[in-house]
Amino acid sequence: MTFPDEKWEKLVEKRKRGDVLVAPSILSADFGILANEIKRCERAGADMLHIDVMDGHFVPNLTIGPPVVRSIRKATEIFFDVHLMIASPSMFVEPFHRAGADMLTFHVESGENIETAIEKCKKLGMKCGVSLNPPTAIETVFPFLEKVDMVLVMSVNPGFSGQSFMPEVVPKIRRVREKLAEIGRRDVLIEVDGGIKDTNAQMVIEAGADILVSGSYLFGGEMPERLKKLKTQH
Ligand code: DX5
Ligand code: ZN
Repeated sequence: MTFPDEKWEKLVEKRKRGDVLVAPSILSADFGILANEIKRCERAGADMLHIDVMDGHFVPNLTIGPPVVRSIRKATEIFFDVHLMIASPSMFVEPFHRAGADMLTFHVESGENIETAIEKCKKLGMKCGVSLNPPTAIETVFPFLEKVDMVLVMSVNPGFSGQSFMPEVVPKIRRVREKLAEIGRRDVLIEVDGGIKDTNAQMVIEAGADILVSGSYLFGGEMPERLKKLKTQH
């Protein structure tokens, strides 16, 4: 078993060498053959796996919980980037840790004190991220920048895959990149999630994105070619 820190450091190094990282979102996978779909992502060159957790309260959709994460953990060692779109994230930090998550990302809009969740997550040795929805001001994540490993900028309103990218979020990517430089946290990675495909990857990379999440685009065609296109747009 490889630990989250070790895997994350390798990813950060890879990014420093100039590679944009790609995280396929398994929400667009065929859940009936999930382990095969994950192998498909690995073969295509995925850097990590993006796992969308939804509770029917925070967003109007239901997806994956810890039991599924535990099952797919047996199929792969790849870094599990778990995106929590749920109303009470701190309650699920331990269950996702036990299931094999490497990183948990919390939304500032979750209605909970995410500071507690972040602390819990770090104590258990996982990496952690903070996220915000398209209508939310970027400044809302600033109080957490000293504590997190990643900022996830949503480029669609969360809930479903296959939605259109919202270009109006691009200035937020730029703003948080500047803020991270200002406070000397250059090792914090910026992830963008929602509607990412070949035609907009370059725009978000130029603004400062390090990790591109992509669901419907990657799963909807020849994944190795599409993944390569996302990485070589810049
Ligand atoms: C949206 C999810 C995304 C989504 C991405 O709520 O957080 O991760 O699955 O899928 P596409 O790339 O199809 O927008
Ligand atoms: Zn997501």
